[in-house]
Amino acid sequence: MTDAAGPSAIRPYHAGDRDAIARICLLTAAGGGDATGVYSDDALMPEVYALPYVDFAPELAFVVDDGGRIGGYVLGVADTAAFIDWWTREWAPGFRARHPSPGPPTAHRPAYTEAQLIVDGGDPARMRIPELDRYPAHLHIDLLPEYQGRGLGRRLIDTLRAALAERGVPAVHLGMDPANTRARAFYERLGFHELPSSRVDAPRLGIATR
Ligand SMILES: CC(C)(COP(=O)(O)OP(=O)(O)OC[C@H]1O[C@@H](n2cnc3c(N)ncnc32)[C@H](O)[C@@H]1OP(=O)(O)O)[C@@H](O)C(=O)NCCC(=O)NCCS
Repeated sequence: MTDAAGPSAIRPYHAGDRDAIARICLLTAAGGGDATGVYSDDALMPEVYALPYVDFAPELAFVVDDGGRIGGYVLGVADTAAFIDWWTREWAPGFRARHPSPGPPTAHRPAYTEAQLIVDGGDPARMRIPELDRYPAHLHIDLLPEYQGRGLGRRLIDTLRAALAERGVPAVHLGMDPANTRARAFYERLGFHELPSSRVDAPRLGIATR
């Protein structure tokens, strides 16, 4: 890795990246910081916010490849409604079986509780926002700390927007942790705007794909 113009390449996801993606999700899941040990099971966050995406739409996942080391990713789905259907059929049953109830408390008291995380993993209907007609796609983006602030986030978002535009998808949205003020500044800098259903405690932003 040198700088934004250096050797870190953006490339499409490969199946061999799956574990690295789960790890990066965990390492960035606490308002942008490390969530290791926050929940009773470190697999929970990736099972709700990363792995279903690469299983459902591997062609809309892109990674930062730094000479074989994965430094970050953007994960997208083009059709959130179809993703909800898939999640209900294919993902929720296994998730519920693996995580029937919250585990023992940890030393942490996250605002996003383990009980809520477990509900969310089994409840894809939470993704059915009122703006889905105009913003059918949604995304998640995360970079390890040493890859942040080098232009890679912008490049990942540009790559996903172009891939969505190629597929005829007009716009993409995202939901985010209200405490993650750095990510909010990043999205605003890129031109994301607030959607009508956005709330202070549950921000929702969107942007056209071209
Ligand atoms: C948020 C994140 C994806 C941004 O990616 P990044 O590579 O650090 O951002 P970039 O370097 O591509 O920045 C792109 C633009 O946003 C601006 N920007 C980025 N962070 C900013 C901040 N905190 N405040 C103001 N502007 C910011 C940059 O100045 C840059 O502007 P320019 O392209 O016009 O020069 C990345 O920092 C990250 O993964 N953070 C941890 C995980 C996380 O929070 N994920 C999002 C969850 S919702």
